[in-house]
Amino acid sequence: MILVTGGAGFIGSNFILDWIAATGEATVNLDKLTYAGNLENLVSLKDDSRHVFVRGDINDRELVGRMLAEHQPRAIIHFAAESHVDRSIHGPGEFIQTNINGTFSLLEEVRAYWQGLQGEEKAAFRFLHVSTDEVYGSLGPNDPPFTEATAYAPNSPYSASKAASDHLVRAYHHTYGLPTLTTNCSNNYGAFQFPEKLIPLILLNALTAKPLPIYGDGLNVRDWLYVGDHCAAIRAVLAGGRLGETYNIGGWNEKTNLDVVHTVCAILDELKPAADHKPYAALITYVKDRPGHDRRYAIDAHKVERELGWKPMETFETGIHKTVAWYLDNMGWVENIVSGEYQKWLATQYGKG
Ligand code: NAD
Ligand code: TYD
Repeated sequence: MILVTGGAGFIGSNFILDWIAATGEATVNLDKLTYAGNLENLVSLKDDSRHVFVRGDINDRELVGRMLAEHQPRAIIHFAAESHVDRSIHGPGEFIQTNINGTFSLLEEVRAYWQGLQGEEKAAFRFLHVSTDEVYGSLGPNDPPFTEATAYAPNSPYSASKAASDHLVRAYHHTYGLPTLTTNCSNNYGAFQFPEKLIPLILLNALTAKPLPIYGDGLNVRDWLYVGDHCAAIRAVLAGGRLGETYNIGGWNEKTNLDVVHTVCAILDELKPAADHKPYAALITYVKDRPGHDRRYAIDAHKVERELGWKPMETFETGIHKTVAWYLDNMGWVENIVSGEYQKWLATQYGKG
């Protein structure tokens, strides 16, 4: 079996569903269930013995050690993190605690476990660390996309904490020989994404006739990847990635935020027109920019394609259509998420009006 951390979050839960469907192999899922963790994402596995859930913190070394001894995983897929840039600006402490200290604690326990393995099991073991393209900093409009050789230049507390965790993983490979793999992925979108992130936030605000907040001039560029494609990339890297290497994962889909928001609005106009028949894009509202807002991210995903044969299956158009349709079909999931804690976040970030 494999051990997944953060498997109740957006990408982790998509990964567990995808993994069990694709491989049938069991998973044990260690997740603290912060505001971002939601077991409802995994409700379809409720009676499936191939998913074992353990609520806990990756900083709890005793718990991690016990789980490793009990379940004897052949690989760790490490998603657990604080993941939202805006939250890292309001309160970086949790990001240091989970993304840096938590990754360190996990690495220490995994190192001890791996060192105790023998022969084939030891040779086949993998620690796959899931990271972000944000560690590379910001690109100018004509810069080439990030490659695995691009120097790290993180600009937010979030990206700095992820960069630190990437360095720790690298060091555990070089110093102790731990068989690590690191993936640096671009912005994901798809089912089960918490509505603090751009796409689900815009969707929900549109459906409730609230302003659609665009930071700055709306011309910041992100490279969008459908979450199902990210899950397939992780499977490919786990199966065939070279030890100690990093792989950039991206969608070859550079879009400005305004493009993304207009696309979401146009799909909603088609699938669920507003009661007043106005186009949803009329709700677009420019708000104060994010401090230190990175202008452009773009991923060169040639290495993973060349070495492992992975490339995205979805275009932005097909993936975003599926995503909007998923949210419309799953308003029950959304209503359960939009709790008191989420309302508090909206008030902190966007003010009451
Ligand atoms: P998310 O915020 O939706 O989920 C994070 C999960 O980790 C939650 O279930 C949360 O409960 C859990 N968690 C947080 N702290 C924990 C702790 N101390 N111990 C155990 N569990 C804890 O995040 P996501 O968007 O699914 O991202 C998953 C990973 O992928 C992160 O490492 C993130 O940096 C990386 N990533 C995300 C994106 C993206 O676009 N969302 C892109 C590239 C990389
Ligand atoms: P986000 O989903 O927070 O991802 P990240 O910052 O990790 O790339 O934001 C994506 C882009 O959308 C980013 O340039 C910030 C912008 N954005 C807005 O314009 N308005 C919003 O309300 C949010 C949440 C993000």
